[in-house]
Amino acid sequence: MQLTKYEEDMYNGEYGEGKAECMEILVSLGKIYNAEKMVPITSAQVSGVSYKTIGDAGLDFVVDLGKKADVELETMLNPAGVDIENWKELGFSEEFTKKQIDIIKGYESIGVMSTCTCTPYLIGNTPLLHEHVAWSESSAVCYVNSVIGAKSNREGGPSALLAAIVGRTPYYGNHITDNRKADMIFDVDYDFTTEAEIGALGYYVGQIVNDKNPYFRLNSNPGRNNLKTLGAALASSGAVSIYHVENVTPEAEFAKNHETFNETEVINIDSEIIKESLDGLSTTDKIPDLVCLGCPHASISEIQKVATLVKGKKLKKDLWICTSQAIKAISKQCGYLDIIEAAGGKIVSDTCMVVAPVEELDYEVIGVNSAKAANYVPNMCKLDVVYDTVENLIKLIS
Ligand code: F3S
Repeated sequence: MQLTKYEEDMYNGEYGEGKAECMEILVSLGKIYNAEKMVPITSAQVSGVSYKTIGDAGLDFVVDLGKKADVELETMLNPAGVDIENWKELGFSEEFTKKQIDIIKGYESIGVMSTCTCTPYLIGNTPLLHEHVAWSESSAVCYVNSVIGAKSNREGGPSALLAAIVGRTPYYGNHITDNRKADMIFDVDYDFTTEAEIGALGYYVGQIVNDKNPYFRLNSNPGRNNLKTLGAALASSGAVSIYHVENVTPEAEFAKNHETFNETEVINIDSEIIKESLDGLSTTDKIPDLVCLGCPHASISEIQKVATLVKGKKLKKDLWICTSQAIKAISKQCGYLDIIEAAGGKIVSDTCMVVAPVEELDYEVIGVNSAKAANYVPNMCKLDVVYDTVENLIKLIS
């Protein structure tokens, strides 16, 4: 790999043992992927935060790294395993929470912002078009590449953290413009009206394309919230890290600009396929004892919608809306938090239904409106899921 003088100096330890170790690992990674050089990045987003997923080994890794190096650019954390402020009220154990707080403190000690969210782009970590970044949460990677048009590979938590410490990442994959072009075309003849339908589309297409780049022709612009949902679904049933939507996403025009893009070779998707995919995402038809929204973490407009739906109601079952502390604070300012709490719901920050140890609480069936959550909850939490729209889920527990 071709390194600059500064990169070589870091590699050789002139900027400390921590940076040298990070460079060594990143260069080895670059060699595996035939990267010819490193590329400077402007931000990082680090997954591998929940004690449920990284355990004591992950905690030791963060503490150990913290003794040697700091991050040198804007770096945000993915969701943790508990709501840091309201863990007790939600029923999480003190033992788990203590470990979780140690992990977060470890990240904070090296300069990582403990935002604990998978939607960092909703709270200020919003790169510009074509900027190089190193993000690791798969839904956020899909959003940053596809909707924002910045460039990130689907990093692992450790590789994103190492990149944040040295300010660069190996130049391969999505960092190379040509690799961002579309591979398969999907003509979707369906008028989407709900997030559950668009999630069902993403879930279906992700299984077909795996790590290829899908190109969608939709009847209309689905909007930012639904693009967030679509990317999360694509990245969970497949390994998609970038998709394009004609006349909507910033690189769509560029994406079809190559000789193998054959306008006539398309996969047609109709209402039958969407319905089948949607129905296949539920594992039971029982009434959920918890409805859990906000996967990926909810935007303020998604929370506003829930507040409208539950206003004046007394919910019969639990309702969580997962988001960041920052969006929760805005919800309070706008009055949505009070409305939701008056109905018996909760805005849960820092965590989500997949990375929290929900299986240790007293629930059997979770209602979700996210195809990603519907895909992961049965395995990660060993619980049944009901997959439906936010309107229908609220109706079920009202
Ligand atoms: Fe985010 Fe958890 Fe879903 S990390 S994308 S809310 S599984």
